Amino acid sequence: MTDRRPFVGGNWKMNTDLASAVELAEDIVAGIGGLTEQCEVAVFPPFPYLHSVGKTLEDHRIILGAQDVYHESNGAFTGEISVEMLLDLKVGVVLIGHSERRHVIGEPDELINLKALKAIEAGLDIILCLGENMTQREAGQTKQINLGQLEAGLSGIPTSQMSQVTIAYEPIWAIGTGLSATPADAEAAHGDIRGKLADLYDDSVANSVRIQYGGSVNANNAGDLFAQPNIDGGLIGGASLKADAFLDIVRDAARSG
Ligand code: 13P
Repeated sequence: MTDRRPFVGGNWKMNTDLASAVELAEDIVAGIGGLTEQCEVAVFPPFPYLHSVGKTLEDHRIILGAQDVYHESNGAFTGEISVEMLLDLKVGVVLIGHSERRHVIGEPDELINLKALKAIEAGLDIILCLGENMTQREAGQTKQINLGQLEAGLSGIPTSQMSQVTIAYEPIWAIGTGLSATPADAEAAHGDIRGKLADLYDDSVANSVRIQYGGSVNANNAGDLFAQPNIDGGLIGGASLKADAFLDIVRDAARSG
C-alpha cells in the first residue's frame, strides 16, 4: 500500500468527432459517481474539442487534458498550441512525449524536455510518456531506453516541481496491439523507473510520483496491472473511447488505491 492516489487518463488520440466527443464526456460524467474520491481521472480529447468537452466536464472532478503542447508562448509557429491557450481552456494536465509524438511525428528528447519545462513553468501538470519498442526490448535494452528517456525528459525540472509530474510507461509494442505487458514485466519496469527517480531526486520524490502503465489496458487486465505496487493507474487509448469500459478501468484503479 502507498499513499499515491491512482491516476487514470483516457487518451482519445485522433478519434471522435464533435458530437461523439461530447457524448463520451457526458457518459463518463454520468457514470463517474464517487470514483474521483479514490482515483484521479483525466480525459485527453483532440484539440478542436477541448472547449466543448471542457464545458461538459465543468463542475465535475474530471480533469481536462491535452495531448501535446508547444514550448513557445506565441508567434510564428503555424499549427502549434501554447500552454497559455491550454490554460485559457482550463486544461489541467498535458501529455508530453507520447510515443506517437516521438515515433510518428519524430519528436526528439530535447524537444520533449523543452515542452515539459514550459508546461511545468506555466503551472500545468504533465504526464511524461516513455517506453521501449520491440527491437529494443528483444535486445535487452528496455531499462536503458526507459531510464534514458526519463532523465532526458525531466532535465532541469527541480524537486520542488516534481509534484506536477506523472510518468506513463507505455511500451510501444503494447500500444494498440492488444499485447499488454504482463503485470510482472510492467512492475519490473516501473520499479526501475522509481529507482531512477530516487537517483535523480530523492526517496520522497520517488515514493510520491505516480507511474501509470499504458498499452492495451482494458477492463479485463486492468485489475491485475493496477494491483502491482509500483503501478499507479493507467493511460488508456482504445478502451477509453467507450464510457463503460473506461469507467470499469477507473473502478479497478480506485480499488487498487
Ligand atoms: P492503447 O490502450 O490503445 O494500447 O493505447 C495506449 C496509449 O497509447 C495511451 O496513451
